[in-house]
Amino acid sequence: MTENAISLRNISKSYRTGLRRKRKTAVEDLSLEVRAGEIFGLLGPNGAGKTTTIKVLLGIVFPEGGSGSLLGEPLGGRAAHDRLGFLPEQPYFYGFLTAEKGLELYGKFFGLDRASLRQRSGELLDLVGLSAGNHLTLDKYSKGMLQRFGIAQALLNDPELVVMDEPSSGLDPVGQKEVRDILVHLKELGKTIFLSSHQLSEVENICDSVTIVNRGRSVKEGNLSDLLAARGLTRITLKGGGPDAAERLGQVSPQVSRQGEETLLDVEGVRVFQALEAAKDLGMELVSVKPYQQSLEELFLETIRETSA
Ligand SMILES: Nc1ncnc2c1ncn2[C@@H]1O[C@H](COP(=O)(O)OP(=O)(O)O)[C@@H](O)[C@H]1O
Ligand SMILES: [Mg+2]
Repeated sequence: MTENAISLRNISKSYRTGLRRKRKTAVEDLSLEVRAGEIFGLLGPNGAGKTTTIKVLLGIVFPEGGSGSLLGEPLGGRAAHDRLGFLPEQPYFYGFLTAEKGLELYGKFFGLDRASLRQRSGELLDLVGLSAGNHLTLDKYSKGMLQRFGIAQALLNDPELVVMDEPSSGLDPVGQKEVRDILVHLKELGKTIFLSSHQLSEVENICDSVTIVNRGRSVKEGNLSDLLAARGLTRITLKGGGPDAAERLGQVSPQVSRQGEETLLDVEGVRVFQALEAAKDLGMELVSVKPYQQSLEELFLETIRETSA
């Protein structure tokens, strides 16, 4: 099935803020598509409009313009709600409950009976790596454990789509890896995952496609591996050349960096000869010439830089 799980078309949303109630744009003319069964990442720096986009998607706020669909239902209605799970940016859970009791409480909202609820919460705690026999109350949980509890909570109704706003923000690398592993496992179970993130380490390797947003606008989108491969850069590694070498090379490509004794120059394919000639003129020694794949982090930073200027 190739039907999109989510489609947003030309969404705009602004807020009135301050004493003068001036309009401030949070999301502008944003379109995106999420295919069923994929892990989709909405990436962007703080304030880029990620949470607002999620709120529009879930019908928590209404856009001034645009349209869309959620699991085949028009945006803004509640028809799709019992087929999705949501983990908000800063979830709040009652601290006096154990994980098991907490899930039972939230599960009642979905009208599950006691027996199936008990079984379901056991399965979910297992899935997120929290044990059901654990008598710790949630106020004793680490940030990582709470986040895993939050994911379990978002899965209570066995949703087709899970929407998570910054699921691993504030976690240490081990906690982030645990969340990533859970997300990959959910994808294997056939679920569609929509996550937002301002941290790239959390999505590199797990997202199938991404949309990068900056200042409320979509600035780059596509299949992650295509985006990374599309740049077709070549990395030229050089040695020597004196103090102004980096500056001279900067005229060939803005992507010059130093790594120990070496100078790294990343250039587009058509500029390789020009770069090599410049290096030769500078009396530099050639160490290597290799095709170079940008990391998501570099693509992200470069895109944000280009669109913030
Ligand atoms: N309820 C609100 N009232 C006024 N301004 C808001 C509100 N929510 C968000 N904003 C503003 O909208 C912009 C986008 O915010 P947000 O969607 O939370 O971004 P992100 O989740 O990417 O950090 C920011 O400039 C933010 O200050
Ligand atoms: Mg946010």
